[in-house]
Amino acid sequence: MEKYKILIDTDPGVDDALAILMAHEHAQVLGLSIAAGNVGIEHTVANGLKLIEVIGADTPVFAGCATPLVHAAADAAYVHGQDGFGDTGYTPSTRSAESEHAALAILRLSHVHAGNLVLVAMAPLTNLALALRLDPTLPQRVAKLVIMGGAVTGRGNYETVPAEFNIGFDPEAAHVVFSTWPHFVLVDWEATVQHGIEFARIEALLAASDPRAQFYRAISQKTRDWTRAGGRPKLLIADALAMAVALDPDIVTRAKERRVAVEINGALTRGATVVDWDSRLGRPANAQIVLEVDQSRFESLIASALGAG
Ligand code: RIB
Ligand code: CA
Repeated sequence: MEKYKILIDTDPGVDDALAILMAHEHAQVLGLSIAAGNVGIEHTVANGLKLIEVIGADTPVFAGCATPLVHAAADAAYVHGQDGFGDTGYTPSTRSAESEHAALAILRLSHVHAGNLVLVAMAPLTNLALALRLDPTLPQRVAKLVIMGGAVTGRGNYETVPAEFNIGFDPEAAHVVFSTWPHFVLVDWEATVQHGIEFARIEALLAASDPRAQFYRAISQKTRDWTRAGGRPKLLIADALAMAVALDPDIVTRAKERRVAVEINGALTRGATVVDWDSRLGRPANAQIVLEVDQSRFESLIASALGAG
C-alpha cells in the first residue's frame, strides 16, 4: 500500500479513534485537525492528544471550531460517553495542541504537501468549510478528499430522518464543501451499517496485549454496550470504514459517481444528502459514492491497527 500523507479532520469520538490508529499504522499522518461534534471541542482536542500519546507518535493536533457555522447542534455523547472516549477517566496527555487554528493548518499543509496530501474528513465539516471560504483554491492542492458523511438513500442517524451526524450537525458547512469541492469520495452511514463488525470479532481483536488494543478496548466499552443494548447485531465504525477506503482504495468493490447536495432548510430533511441517482439535473458528478467494500480486507486493516493481526 502506497504510503499516503494523510491529514485527518476528526471529532474523536470512539470510531474516530480506530480510524486514527489505522492511519498511523498504514500511512504518514501529517496532523489531526479537530472539530466539535461527537462532544465539545475541549474533549475532542484532549482525546486527540491522548490518542497520539498512546500511539507514541508526534503528530501535531490543531484545535478547530467550537461550534457549527450557524446553528447550535446536539452532540453524540450518548454514543461516545460524556468525554467522547467512553468516560474512562484516562490521565490526560501532557501534550498541548498547536497554536495554529485547524482551518489555517489545513491550508498551510496543503501548500507544504501540494499534490500528495490525502484529506480524510470524518467529523462535521466546519473546519473544512472555513478553510474553503478562506482559500477556494484548496481543492487544487489536495490529491484526494474522503468524507465520512451522509446517508445516500435517506436512512440517517441524526435528528431528521435522512440526516447523518457529520452532515446534520453542521449542514451549512457541508453545503459549502459539497457545493464547491470538485470531486470527493463519500463513505456514508448506509455503507457503515452494511459493513459492521461482529462483536465477537472486535472483542477478540481487543484482547490483544498491544497498548493500542487495550486503550481502544477501554474507550470503546461504553459504545459497544450501547450498541448491543440497542439491538444492533454488529458494531458500526463509520470513520474506520472511511479511513480503510482512504488507505486502500482497492477495497471498494462497488461505487457510483453521482451529484450529491446537502439540504439546509427542510423542516423534515435538514442535513439530508440528496443524490441525483438518475442524473436528471444534468450536473456533473461530484462524488464517488462507496456502496460496498471487501469486508475481510477492511477488518484486516483494523486488526493490524490494534496490533492484533
Ligand atoms: O455518523 C457517524 C459519524 O458521526 C462518525 O464520524 C462519528 O464519529 C460521528 O462523528
Ligand atoms: Ca467522527
